[in-house]
Amino acid sequence: MCGIVGYIGNKNAQNILMAGLKRLEYRGYDSAGIMTLDEKEKSVLLRAKGKVSELEKRINGNKVEHTVGIGHTRWATHGEPSKRNAHPHAIGDIYIVHNGIIENYQDLKLILEQRDYVFKSDTDTEILGALIDSLYKQSETLLEAVSGALQMVVGAYGIAVMSADNPEEIVVARQGSPLIVGVDEGEVFIASDASALVGHTDKVIYMHDGEIGVCSRDGLELYDGDSHVVRAQVEKLELDVQSIQKNGYDHFLLKEIYEQPDSLRATLSGRIDPKTGYAKLGGLNVSDEQLRDIEHVFIIGCGTAYYAGLLAGYYIEKLVDGVTIHNHIASELRYRSFHVPESTVALIVSQSGETADTLACLTELKRRGVTCLGVVNAVGSTIAREVDGGVYVHVGAEISVASTKAFTSQVVSITIFGLMLAQAKGAGLQLIDEYIEELDALPKEITKVLETKAGEVKKLAKKYASYDHAVFTGRDTLYPTALEGALKLKEISYIQSEGYASGELKHGPIALIDDRMFEVCYIQDNWLYEKSQSNLIEINARGAHAIVITDTDKRLSAEAVVRVSTRLRHLTPLLFNVVSQLFAYHVAVVRGNDVDQPRNLAKSVTVE
Ligand code: AGP
Ligand code: GLU
Repeated sequence: MCGIVGYIGNKNAQNILMAGLKRLEYRGYDSAGIMTLDEKEKSVLLRAKGKVSELEKRINGNKVEHTVGIGHTRWATHGEPSKRNAHPHAIGDIYIVHNGIIENYQDLKLILEQRDYVFKSDTDTEILGALIDSLYKQSETLLEAVSGALQMVVGAYGIAVMSADNPEEIVVARQGSPLIVGVDEGEVFIASDASALVGHTDKVIYMHDGEIGVCSRDGLELYDGDSHVVRAQVEKLELDVQSIQKNGYDHFLLKEIYEQPDSLRATLSGRIDPKTGYAKLGGLNVSDEQLRDIEHVFIIGCGTAYYAGLLAGYYIEKLVDGVTIHNHIASELRYRSFHVPESTVALIVSQSGETADTLACLTELKRRGVTCLGVVNAVGSTIAREVDGGVYVHVGAEISVASTKAFTSQVVSITIFGLMLAQAKGAGLQLIDEYIEELDALPKEITKVLETKAGEVKKLAKKYASYDHAVFTGRDTLYPTALEGALKLKEISYIQSEGYASGELKHGPIALIDDRMFEVCYIQDNWLYEKSQSNLIEINARGAHAIVITDTDKRLSAEAVVRVSTRLRHLTPLLFNVVSQLFAYHVAVVRGNDVDQPRNLAKSVTVE
């Protein structure tokens, strides 16, 4: 869930580890720690509850010149966030940092207690550390001990392990939790996320599940689960420093909202051609013939990625007759006795490409022989590597925990997939042309919203920031928009906000409406306008504070109306969504929240 860093070389390890932890903090941030070791086997272990800045305060009084060490920023699964539970854990001769969950830790604990181990933390990680230590006592090498311990473990992990008597190596292993090793002349960098490696080296090795490796100043020796040597594939890291800095913005979230016109251009680049009216996603590895045969599309994701699939699913249905869309929340699908019809393709949607539930669905669908295509942002991530083909959304690093630019580009990428289906199946050319034109115009239309609406939305946010409850409603494509709008607001403002299909209001949620809450109604001037307006009237009649986000000039009765003037028709929901992103951001700022690292959340959910 969180961040692992490691370093062995000739530079100051504390500095490198701390810089890496700051870069990774967006992935988990309830406590942090680092351990460094010198040639005389003298270790310095520093840990602190809270943000990496708290750890930094501790480092300041304990500076050392060590050149090897490991570090961690935690997102607690076992045991409260505290200094005692923070990693690295030291047990016997072993130091360990760990991302993930050891599921059989209780059984292992009983065995280890019989071997006289006494535990100082509540974590599953410390148990794994003790297991390694107990085997290390009978092993020739740390590698042998780690490898033996991992054979007894059930669960998911990315780990970096050191022994107190050997400052010359760090052992790393992964199973279900990402780990990347950066290599350069005389030094090796370890990280659970590429952003920590940027600026140090662009030569990286993405470890695969089941692999274990020994890092030394000479590089990485890699082995598979059967202890056979693996030839590590060195790849070029395509991430620049600009994309992981705030570049003058107060928060990454605001920067990422404003990046959308450009990130969207990157998504669209080479994929739609307004001149020929042609859409193509290069990396799908699916022929036109195969596209023609597709009758069912499963679209799978969690959170915002799920909502992106939901919205794009509406578009595919509009574009192509005879294709049935099956949207699934990954954490549900993985345990359902679901049936996959013939002629199904599955789209696996994930910004990080590491989400455990989404990955589990991918594994199951592949087992059943379903063609799985990724819609992923993080290059080289597990999902990107496991799928049969797919599309990178190419939005660059998304650092803020709340996803914004990735959502927009996920919707667009899946819609382009819909256009390819429509083309292959010979569906209505005029509609295809309209979508291509709108996709081409979308970056500029988003710029217009950002330029003309930001001030107005900021004022609105101030007015409504003190409420504790909100309801978001919309119909058709504005229903997933409402779900995403509500999710964004709740994630960063902590206002309890729920999204509903407008037509569902009277089936229950309307009981909630009174003057202690506000309601965001998305209304588009299309064939559903009258119906959406009726919902607004129902809400007004119950004394709610209604905020309408709309593209109409018609008079609407509401406490506030944000009018988005646009020439788009189909893709207007993506413009309304930018308004809700700005709204959520400003509400969170007014409430004094930590916008980029909201409480209890983590950027990448690599555990169940
Ligand atoms: C988005 O704002 C959320 N933080 C969250 O719902 C996220 O979209 C979800 O966890 C899926 O992540 P993924 O795209 O990396 O798989
Ligand atoms: N399960 C471990 C713990 O609770 C690791 C959690 C994480 O991935 O940060 O400490």
